[in-house]
Amino acid sequence: MAFGIRNATERDIPAMLALWKKLQAFEAPFGGDYWRTTPDAPGSFERFLRNEIASPDFVMLVAEDGGHAVGFLTGKIQDRPPIFIVQKELHVDNLYVEKVFRGKGLGRRLLASAEAKAKAHGARMLTLLVALENRPALSLYREFGLKPFSMKMAKKI
Ligand SMILES: CC(C)(COP(=O)(O)OP(=O)(O)OC[C@H]1O[C@@H](n2cnc3c(N)ncnc32)[C@H](O)[C@@H]1OP(=O)(O)O)[C@@H](O)C(=O)NCCC(=O)NCCS
Repeated sequence: MAFGIRNATERDIPAMLALWKKLQAFEAPFGGDYWRTTPDAPGSFERFLRNEIASPDFVMLVAEDGGHAVGFLTGKIQDRPPIFIVQKELHVDNLYVEKVFRGKGLGRRLLASAEAKAKAHGARMLTLLVALENRPALSLYREFGLKPFSMKMAKKI
């Protein structure tokens, strides 16, 4: 099978939304209620994708198999306050690969493509949040060269 990584188009949005729902279901148990979403979240996320797709700072990639999206990544190239030496970072918000397509290098290739695109736009750091319980993702990120450097702590109030 020939897998490819490419920029997402409007036509990919329904498939991306289906993958995103699976990502939400997967992440919901992590972090207390932190990643639980509201019933209207899919509609909001779809509007968000449609609004952002044309933005040069928005990274929206799909991993495809025969034209069909089987994985996706979204991220934003963000300006940081001018006090910092690293002026732009790519923050990856969503990464998901369909279960049957895992272990074939698609997660790594999505990250590599996002990194290349962000670098070309001046970003000098790639950041993301990952649940400490999510061992496959942690392995991928470590193998890709990401290092934990701070810990987000939470308490329900
Ligand atoms: C995390 C995820 C995106 C990885 O995608 P993938 O396409 O299977 O990853 P790859 O095949 O590119 O793996 C690359 C490397 O990551 C590591 N890795 C990936 N999955 C792993 C697993 N289940 N166990 C251990 N290491 C793993 C390995 O080092 C692997 O390299 P190798 O195959 O040469 O050993 C996928 O498991 C997924 O969608 N998980 C559910 C959603 C999720 O956790 N998203 C991230 C939220 S922060």
